[in-house]
Amino acid sequence: MSPSTMPPGGRPVALHARGARVRDEQGREFIDGSSGAVCVNLGHGVPEVLEAMRSQAERITFVHRSQFAHSAVADLSNEILSIAGPDYREVVYTNSGSEATETALRLALHHHADGPGDRSVVLTQRPSYHGMTAGALGVSGHPSRRAGLEALHDGTIVSVPVTATDPDRPLPDLADWKEAFARVGPARVAAVLVEPIGGAASGAQEIPPEVMRGLRALCDEAGALLVVDEVMTGFGRSGAWFAHLDSDTRPDLVITGKGLSGGYTPIGACLVGARVLPGRSATELAFGHTMSGNPLSAATALAVLRYTREHRLPERARRVGAELRKRLSAIAARYAFLDEPRGRGMLLALPVRQDAADYGVEPLNRRICSAAEAAGLLLYPSGIDRAAQSVLVTPPLTVDDSELDDLFTRLRSALDMVERADSEADR
Ligand SMILES: Cc1ncc(COP(=O)(O)O)c(C=O)c1O
Repeated sequence: MSPSTMPPGGRPVALHARGARVRDEQGREFIDGSSGAVCVNLGHGVPEVLEAMRSQAERITFVHRSQFAHSAVADLSNEILSIAGPDYREVVYTNSGSEATETALRLALHHHADGPGDRSVVLTQRPSYHGMTAGALGVSGHPSRRAGLEALHDGTIVSVPVTATDPDRPLPDLADWKEAFARVGPARVAAVLVEPIGGAASGAQEIPPEVMRGLRALCDEAGALLVVDEVMTGFGRSGAWFAHLDSDTRPDLVITGKGLSGGYTPIGACLVGARVLPGRSATELAFGHTMSGNPLSAATALAVLRYTREHRLPERARRVGAELRKRLSAIAARYAFLDEPRGRGMLLALPVRQDAADYGVEPLNRRICSAAEAAGLLLYPSGIDRAAQSVLVTPPLTVDDSELDDLFTRLRSALDMVERADSEADR
């Protein structure tokens, strides 16, 4: 490929993908150890999903929700609500996780609009990531993605980041949240927004179940909504349909995306709890986008969720994730710059040891990902700071033994490459 036709960033040109294997134009094969951006949960090219897309495309790809209802959209909502259970009453569609975050923020503000006083504060965690649109980025504790964009999001929503008071703790604990409620004034808090297990920002750091339950209680006392961002964790990735189920907490709004379509089409959704905006249509209030809830995306997501249910992928993620974690732990023990893996289900991260996490020309986690790519393995760098610096290891939930063996062979060569480069640099 001549330099003039090189894609931006010099990325390889993808040609074909099946399961957890992606091939490029040059015939090189990559193991998709990150499921793209942690979204290709079913793997690539699943025939049942492709057939559902083809069959829907042949009938109708688009009608606008203001003019027509469509059975694929209704069936998808029924499927999602049957997964979520009786605490949820409506699904509002978007085209991405970021837009689903925006929807949740709008619904939270609408929910409080007729109440007394001014409830406009959203308490969020730092580190966190909720999307790139103005509101979603405005509530994200991800400094590098916000850098230079202050004018875009400041003033869109009052976001108060809650940080751990103890620098050795990666995430705020319940005392930090209580302090934030007291500082802001409980009557001003519209919502608390958290990722149950972090992704790009924290590298699979988990909110402990007791903190999730404590947040639910704090929100109930304050009359605030609990909003949980399950864009990365939802629909099986965490080893359950939703990560919040492990703490037996029922959020008021659940933000989803990524795994909802497994990367087969752009779609996101916000699940609306039974107690939110009672008697009102959240879909009408949230308004939405031209393509929100289009039949082709709905039919695709429906096929993805049915496949996930029929193949028991949440249970599989728990089982295979436990195995994956054991093997990652054995790898971590062999390299001085790695720490014990963390995360849940198949949302796992290999942390870089804090004393090894450099921020020179290229942070160590990015160097690991580059070496992995050279070895034919795709991984995703994560962590906003030294305490969170890590590499996400999140293959499709359907990954098979031979793909996993190849993943680990290539991971070891990548880590050997990094180790060799470091020891040569020290000489
Ligand atoms: C937890 C979380 N929330 C929201 C988003 C934004 O989703 P999207 O990139 O589909 O807009 C992401 C994307 O990485 C995410 O990981």
